[in-house]
Amino acid sequence: MPNHFCSAEDCSDLTGWIREALILKETPYSDKLLGANKTLGLIFFNASLRTRLSTIKAAQNLGMETITFNVNKEGWQLETAHGVVMDGDPAEHITEAAAVMGGYCDILGIRAFPTLLDRKEDYSEKYLLGFQEYAGVPIINLESAALHPLQSFADLMTIEQHKKKERPKVVMTWAPHVKALPQAVPNSFSQWMQHYDADFYIAHPEGMELDAKFTKNATLSCDQDEAFKEADFIYVKNWSSYHDYGEPLKNQQGWMVTLEKLQRTHQAKLMHCLPVRRNVVIADNAMDSRHSIIQDQAYNRIFAAQLVLKKLLTR
Ligand code: CP
Repeated sequence: MPNHFCSAEDCSDLTGWIREALILKETPYSDKLLGANKTLGLIFFNASLRTRLSTIKAAQNLGMETITFNVNKEGWQLETAHGVVMDGDPAEHITEAAAVMGGYCDILGIRAFPTLLDRKEDYSEKYLLGFQEYAGVPIINLESAALHPLQSFADLMTIEQHKKKERPKVVMTWAPHVKALPQAVPNSFSQWMQHYDADFYIAHPEGMELDAKFTKNATLSCDQDEAFKEADFIYVKNWSSYHDYGEPLKNQQGWMVTLEKLQRTHQAKLMHCLPVRRNVVIADNAMDSRHSIIQDQAYNRIFAAQLVLKKLLTR
């Protein structure tokens, strides 16, 4: 186990990890003493429901204490550039702040979304890497500018649990949204799928290609109907443009996922990481259908986080 959990590269044995996480789901309190006298710090630069609560629950299952800190609302604005004269808004440098938080906690989780204004700066992951450099404790990525590994690990647990054949067809499809969203979830899911035994397709409108380094093992299609044929899993997600960086694609209501579309698959299971805007991204009749395994996907976030914490506590 590496010192941090920030991407698929930090999972050394995906098959084994999925198996262990599913066992934890059956026996959540089996390591109740492992985290005694250990503190998990959860540092949020952005909002969260699932990541925040599931990771707290995971820590509690291991007997850990947690501290949650909403930096932008409750803390000093952080400077991340080096060598600057700090006479602007940021009152504290990440060098000191990360070291202080690392002194208070045994493991730190960091959520820091992209601005969607400057691709190079966003993808430099300045917060995640800054904390890795200065905190002096293991760092967990709670969704960074480019990746969301805890989500992807839970996604693969969910597919493993629900799959009916050894090598399922998994389709991740772009869907409409009312605002520009990050590429972190689709990047990350595509990255993890490079290590999972499946026929992996990505369907998106022209111009919404992701960074090719994440999608190199996927079959790409601009025809959603064609991609959905024989699909066993449909993973729905919006993202803004990677190439025309941060631009949303408007007037694409035809890409919304509906029950009628799911009925033309191989009885596919419907997935979404949540939060989802009903009747924009996914229609009510699909959300509320027997195809949906979205609640199970969210519940599995606990055990994905719990296994990652366990690995970091015992490394
Ligand atoms: N899926 C997910 O990460 O949800 P939150 O943004 O609510 O944490």
